[in-house]
Amino acid sequence: MSSVATLAKKLDTQSMHCVRIVQWTDSHIFSEEKGKLLGLDTRHSFEAVLGRISKEELAPDFFLATGDLSQDASEESYRYIASKIGSLEKPTFWIPGNHDSPELMATTLKGDSIYPHKRILAGNWQIVLLDTSVPKKVYGNLSDDDLSLVEEAVSEYPELHLLVVMHHQPVNVGSNWLDNLGIKNAEELFKRVKSHENKVCFLWGHVHQDFNGESQGVQLISTPSTCVQFRPGSKDFSAGDESPGYRYLTLHEDGRVESLLHRIDDIEFTVDYSIKGY
Ligand SMILES: [Fe+2]
Repeated sequence: MSSVATLAKKLDTQSMHCVRIVQWTDSHIFSEEKGKLLGLDTRHSFEAVLGRISKEELAPDFFLATGDLSQDASEESYRYIASKIGSLEKPTFWIPGNHDSPELMATTLKGDSIYPHKRILAGNWQIVLLDTSVPKKVYGNLSDDDLSLVEEAVSEYPELHLLVVMHHQPVNVGSNWLDNLGIKNAEELFKRVKSHENKVCFLWGHVHQDFNGESQGVQLISTPSTCVQFRPGSKDFSAGDESPGYRYLTLHEDGRVESLLHRIDDIEFTVDYSIKGY
């Protein structure tokens, strides 16, 4: 498979020694201006997160938007997101989630700093963005094309560390209802990176909660949503009371991944905990 999107995009970094990334995820924006998810105004919390990101002392080299950007896959929601991120001075790369329309995103998420590329080369790192979404399903799966993209990345740049970015989780996070909604063939992804001689890290959204772990030598990280969170460890669906957030990652040249989770604590949000699904 080859297209503009799968050609590697080479980016310069501000530091010679690391790559700085901000990941924001699961913004669940509605077509309506005051659209609410579980009682929370998702545009309001998204704008609060972007406002906080813009105040980061060390600006990131680029942004990763990791799916469920829209709640209703509407053109209006993507136009709104494009208008908010298109003016950021650094590139944004995106992938779809289960709530998104990959086709509409490709035609609507446009702007001077919004890129369709699914492979990035920056410093000592290669970043690969995968589409784990399955039409009309909440769970995830990796297509042969996506698995081939990982294979190509590993064989072309064995000397670089590898960050694989996706929407759905490739491992269980300890919450029954969510663990049924991860990537069904995640083991295929682990197999594709097994022989990689340098560091490998997987990064995702979807679970609306903080998770850090390790499996088969791969570092594992998930990031909370810019809106409502899910309660960690919950057997059934349950909204959490943690604040909206985003993650600031520093990819060091020796392969270490340092990450800081930022929460927007100083703004009051209303979440309706009586709702039992999303
Ligand atoms: Fe989500």
